[in-house]
Amino acid sequence: MNTSHYNPFAERINNVTPSFIREILQVTKQSDVISFAGGLPNEQLFPIEQLKKSSQKVFENYGSQLLQYSNTEGDLQLRQWIAKRYKRQNLHINVEDILISNGSQQALDLLGKVFINKNDPIIVENPGYLGALQAFRLYQAKFLGVDIHDNGMDITQLQQTLSSNKAKLIYAVPNFQNPTGISYSEENRQAIALEVAKTESYLIQDDPYGELRFSGEQKSNFMSLLPQQTILLGSFSKTIAPAFRLGWIVAPQEIMKKLVIAKQAADLHSNSFSQAILYQYLQDNNIDEHLKKLNHYYGQQKNIMETAIKQYFPQNTKLTNPEGGLFLWCSLDKKISTLELFKTAIKHNIAFVPGESFYTGKIEKNTMRLNYSGADSFAIEKGIKDLAKIIKTKSN
Ligand SMILES: Cc1ncc(COP(=O)(O)O)c(C=O)c1O
Repeated sequence: MNTSHYNPFAERINNVTPSFIREILQVTKQSDVISFAGGLPNEQLFPIEQLKKSSQKVFENYGSQLLQYSNTEGDLQLRQWIAKRYKRQNLHINVEDILISNGSQQALDLLGKVFINKNDPIIVENPGYLGALQAFRLYQAKFLGVDIHDNGMDITQLQQTLSSNKAKLIYAVPNFQNPTGISYSEENRQAIALEVAKTESYLIQDDPYGELRFSGEQKSNFMSLLPQQTILLGSFSKTIAPAFRLGWIVAPQEIMKKLVIAKQAADLHSNSFSQAILYQYLQDNNIDEHLKKLNHYYGQQKNIMETAIKQYFPQNTKLTNPEGGLFLWCSLDKKISTLELFKTAIKHNIAFVPGESFYTGKIEKNTMRLNYSGADSFAIEKGIKDLAKIIKTKSN
């Protein structure tokens, strides 16, 4: 076969690179690296014994039916559970408006499939979640980045972007954003909702971290501020376990019908076996107790990391102050490139994610994402102290 100039691949895949974070994760798995790079929930907190019991129980209760093909929308009882849980946020969600997906990552892919034509303008947070950028890039979206500040989206930029482009989608992570850890303030949410209501755009609220709050007050969901134009995503990855690959999409019926078609074509349905185990777990255990444990631990880890950074990093370091989730966002002196810092740090067995990869607009090269959920207290303290020494060598 003569393949010298022949490129058999579709345009959409040729323009997308592998995720930098996935590549870093490969490195961090290999040795004694202290990793602040991943967005991994802490393995010590997985409810292993309870899940073992749930697995046993579903085999006993459902027998071979458990291993059969199932429906595209997902387990009805699990969707009822999700709908009921939203009542705590005063949201009245119909079960028919919920589709179970393979994590919220698949939800992003399905939304790309359903909405994005080549060069369609899509508003994204700058910096924003890499996985969403990758998913939408495959559908050849044109990204319009709107800057993220401590209180949320830059409203002036959002107004300008919305008025000069007919953006189909606005992608937002308003609670404990990935990568910055910030949350949109109540005023910011209301201002965004006002602007979006003037348009025909849909706002995707991606909310995998919403239940991981260790301080502060819950803010309004866009589904209550902008019900006709919000698509809401959720996930069990960070609250229970990512290996189940279970998340969900809440969307109005006209969108849901398209999503179901896209999902049928993609995989027929999400793993019904893991849906059954997860539902059994939710029946037999108190999820709020479990979340309390997680949030207590993550809050502690965040404080340890914050204190260590304040103690060891240079005085002019800036840090976000997350009220939940898994990440801190750190800005160093403008002269420092965190990509260069990363190359040295990894030789000293410390990993983090350089900020560059998260930008679609203007890049701030001196930024980095630090995860505090994966490493234990001792490793956080040591890793930050060692990283500070390397930063010092770059500052001189
Ligand atoms: C903002 C955001 N959305 C979606 C995902 C994907 O999560 P999952 O597919 O495991 O539900 C992640 C994972 O880190 C995330 O940070």
